[in-house]
Amino acid sequence: MLPARARAANWLVQSWRHLLGAVFAFAAAGIVAIGLFAWSGLYSVAASSGHWAIVDFFLRFGMESSVRTHAPALTPPDLADENLARLGAGHFHAGCAFCHGSPGTPVGAAALKMLPPPPELDGKLAEWSDQQLFWIVRHGIKYTGMPAWPVQGRDDEVWALVAFLRRLPSLDAEAYKALALGEIEPRPETARQIVSGEDRVDTVEACARCHGLEKGPRSELVPVLHGQPRERLETALRAYRSRERDSGIMQVAAAELDDKAIRDLAAFYARLPAPTHLPQAPIQDESAVERGAVLAAQGDADRQVPACLTCHGDAGLPTYPRLSGQPARYLASQLAAWRTGFNARTPGGIVMAPIARRLTPQQVADAAAYFASLPLPAPAQARR
Ligand code: HEC
Ligand code: HEC
Ligand code: HEC
Repeated sequence: MLPARARAANWLVQSWRHLLGAVFAFAAAGIVAIGLFAWSGLYSVAASSGHWAIVDFFLRFGMESSVRTHAPALTPPDLADENLARLGAGHFHAGCAFCHGSPGTPVGAAALKMLPPPPELDGKLAEWSDQQLFWIVRHGIKYTGMPAWPVQGRDDEVWALVAFLRRLPSLDAEAYKALALGEIEPRPETARQIVSGEDRVDTVEACARCHGLEKGPRSELVPVLHGQPRERLETALRAYRSRERDSGIMQVAAAELDDKAIRDLAAFYARLPAPTHLPQAPIQDESAVERGAVLAAQGDADRQVPACLTCHGDAGLPTYPRLSGQPARYLASQLAAWRTGFNARTPGGIVMAPIARRLTPQQVADAAAYFASLPLPAPAQARR
């Protein structure tokens, strides 16, 4: 006879075994039942039938809790910065407004039939912190149709969208157009006139809201395309279209361009004369410009950095960009992208990425200040 304590222990082990067996049997039956149910096709996936109110409530509740838990504790850049908000607005117009609508343009009829439908955003933004909005735009929301940012890790671009979203509730239709479209909407005939005739490029208006036409880009974070070599512009557009160059903004802008549109747009911008306005803030730091000039002409032998002008001056290959006259912030943002590991897969990136990684932060700032202080290159006809 076992002592009473040992018997009790035995009984406990036995009943645990039974319990565990029962749980496994239930789980297995559950999985089979779910499999059968899915196979039967009895559940309707029709978006037209909507969710029950209780399901809707729990989905929203779960989404909000998940965003709150996952949003990172990052310090945002200065979200009041006009340059960020204008870039974000320019992208929102093509990348988000067809689902979410925009001031003066309600959510479209097709998008309204998504489940859940994309909300008009201005009423929703107050409930989210900057970091939570950043997380939503960067990662998207599963099971809702809200897409993730096309290039994971280009956080500088995601913040531009957040800066715009912060501005959105205060915008009426006119203020929105001014912020997102700049010179394009108020005088559409001018844009069309410029591109009419032999060089007619219908899509140029889709580019000009960020890159400008007569006036230059409206944000210091956007490159001036006017007068760049045609081959350079073509190469860059192909790299965005094939998603080898890592910009979510430009991948979306270039996705639907066919070869002819790329050739036409490149030829069009290569011939445009220098714009009448540039986004560039005046360069304050003369000593940075002087140090940058030395680096550009001589490089830095100690760090194995070649002279920038061997490739970026007038003698550089036509597929290499000219840097003179570009906004300092744009130049610095490109160098920063290489230093964080982006853009290294294109033929140009393979050449430039190692050089960018060898620069000190001071050299990045100096080179950006120097090239920004120079005049833009002359357009193609003049160079020939
Ligand atoms: C294909 C359609 C689609 C596109 C494109 C899209 N969204 Fe969304 N978005 C949605 C849907 C659907 C939701 C989810 C709403 C929900 O969970 O109820 C959503 C949710 C959001 C939310 C959370 C709002 C809330 O419900 O509180 C934000 C912010 C947002 N989107 C911003 C953007 C931005 C910025 C872009 C462009 C970069 C964008 N979306 C592009 C469909 C879209
Ligand atoms: C929402 C604003 C926006 C729109 C719209 C836009 N761009 Fe851009 N573009 C940018 C930004 C920002 C960059 C820098 C991207 C990066 O980090 O690589 C850029 C980069 C480029 C470059 C690379 C320049 C170089 O020398 O490396 C080319 C070429 C270009 N854009 C052409 C176009 C064309 C053509 C269109 C129209 C089909 C267009 N862009 C539409 C913002 C925009
Ligand atoms: C051996 C040639 C070479 C040298 C030297 C060189 N670069 Fe570059 N650089 C390139 C190429 C090629 C690209 C285009 C990369 C691409 O297409 O993605 C580029 C692109 C850039 C860009 C991005 C411009 C744009 O509009 O896309 C910046 C900024 C830049 N280089 C800065 C510098 C600086 C600063 C130096 C000197 C310290 C330098 N480069 C030296 C070859 C060179």
